Amino acid sequence: MNILVATAEIAPFAKAGGLADIVEYLSLEWEKVGYKSVVVLPKYQFIDTNYWGFVPTDMVLYVPISHWVEFARLWYGKLPNSNTDVYLVENQDYFSRLGIYGEPDEYPDNDRRFIFFSRAVFETAKAIGFRPDILHAHDYHTAFTMAFLKSFYRYDPLFSNVAGVYTIHNLAYQGIFDPKRAMEFSTFGMKEFYPGSWFEHNGAVNTMKVGIMFADKITTVSPNYANEIRLPYFGEGLHSVLSLRGADLIGILNGVNYAEWSPENDENLFCTYNINNFNEGKLINKYELLRSFGVPEEDNYELPLIGSVTRLAEQKGIDLLVYCLETHLQNNWFRFILLGSGEKKYEDYFRYLQSKYPSKALVHIGYSNSLAHRIIASSDYLILPSRFEPCGLTQMYALRYGTIPIARYTGGFVDTIEEYNPVSMSGTGFTFYQYNADDMSYAIKRAFDYYQKEPHWSTIRKNSMQKDFSAEKTAMEYIKVFKWALEKIGRVIT
Ligand code: ADP
Ligand code: GLC
Repeated sequence: MNILVATAEIAPFAKAGGLADIVEYLSLEWEKVGYKSVVVLPKYQFIDTNYWGFVPTDMVLYVPISHWVEFARLWYGKLPNSNTDVYLVENQDYFSRLGIYGEPDEYPDNDRRFIFFSRAVFETAKAIGFRPDILHAHDYHTAFTMAFLKSFYRYDPLFSNVAGVYTIHNLAYQGIFDPKRAMEFSTFGMKEFYPGSWFEHNGAVNTMKVGIMFADKITTVSPNYANEIRLPYFGEGLHSVLSLRGADLIGILNGVNYAEWSPENDENLFCTYNINNFNEGKLINKYELLRSFGVPEEDNYELPLIGSVTRLAEQKGIDLLVYCLETHLQNNWFRFILLGSGEKKYEDYFRYLQSKYPSKALVHIGYSNSLAHRIIASSDYLILPSRFEPCGLTQMYALRYGTIPIARYTGGFVDTIEEYNPVSMSGTGFTFYQYNADDMSYAIKRAFDYYQKEPHWSTIRKNSMQKDFSAEKTAMEYIKVFKWALEKIGRVIT
């Protein structure tokens, strides 16, 4: 089976969040079991092509936009440590910028940038002579590929037998655009835009809806989120559209690449550890991390350490932390360490907190993969108060490192975190249901009841480390869905 992957992010080249991780993991896993994928990504200015071994090709794409044609050049490389081909679409006007989506506010021409890119995906396959069975697109950025597949490219022999699968990673970002621009750039024209058309939602072009309506199958990143988004509360205005396509909407739980995220071979850590020596291993890492943040030795290293590695966005429930963190720090409940970046108001708040409590609130505003690994390994708990969470990866990473999640009971957290039961001594974390800082504080308190209290403490950690959310399973679930999508267009691939 050949899979053409259209994405705005893939790790390690271009990452804003978990989308990049998952898209990378899927291709790596498919390759292991003999499915060929080709990844197409914009050539953003910040991608270090030299470092990653990308080379320019002499292939030039002619990309139809509206009633004219624009150009792009292809660069070629591979996913690190793999044989998976990656093509970068170079167009200076659209992608030679500092951000993926904005700096940090969304670029005003994201409609045009991503419509251009979506069209370029097909032209890439044509230029390299790749014959896909499946076109797999992710999030609103590449949603228009689903419409292009079913309209302009269905007459092209290279694509006439291709099924389209569209994966929703986050329904909150829908790509809502001015119809006069988006319908023009996409070449469909205003004649296709009318109340109730597949392009229209509340008077605008809704790119997410385009993906949902035109895809053969739609997936999202956890079974629980797949159910939630059919309801108005989580559906972000698209619940009825999702219900309409309900029979083709499937939740596939994200997975982890344990080659990258395992405490026994993680080179980012101060010391590696495993299921037999996690208490000592985690303690060494915690102490070294505190030292590296300049916490004085005499300043009670024993305090529980709560970590957070997150985009600083409303989705992540930062408001709940803002509401009660300072009080808890004053009361010496715990020490808090955060690695994050995003909305300025949150960045400012955490900078303030750090300046006021330099040895209690350890804050790194920015992006660092290696520090992310160290925080996830060294913390006793990871706090995840998300307002909503399609899946979430950091809780799965944390579990593998014996770091206990304290999370809101929503989205993918429901599928991955099991409340600790002190009687049966089963479970891996602590959860709260209402989006409310008092309920979160209560969950923190419950979690602290077992802090260093044996036999519970070691048991929770051990339970967590034994959980298996490997991306291998995830990748095979996608293959199943790809086969259903092909069946839908009358093809059977065994
Ligand atoms: P989302 O995609 O909504 O941000 P996920 O939990 O699915 O949430 O994925 C987040 C990914 O981004 C994880 O790999 C996490 O480690 C990483 N990450 C988030 N913020 C940072 C940061 N500031 N520095 C390094 N990695 C980060
Ligand atoms: C999105 C979601 C996150 C999910 C990630 C990868 O960014 O917010 O929950 O894990 O995509 O699918």
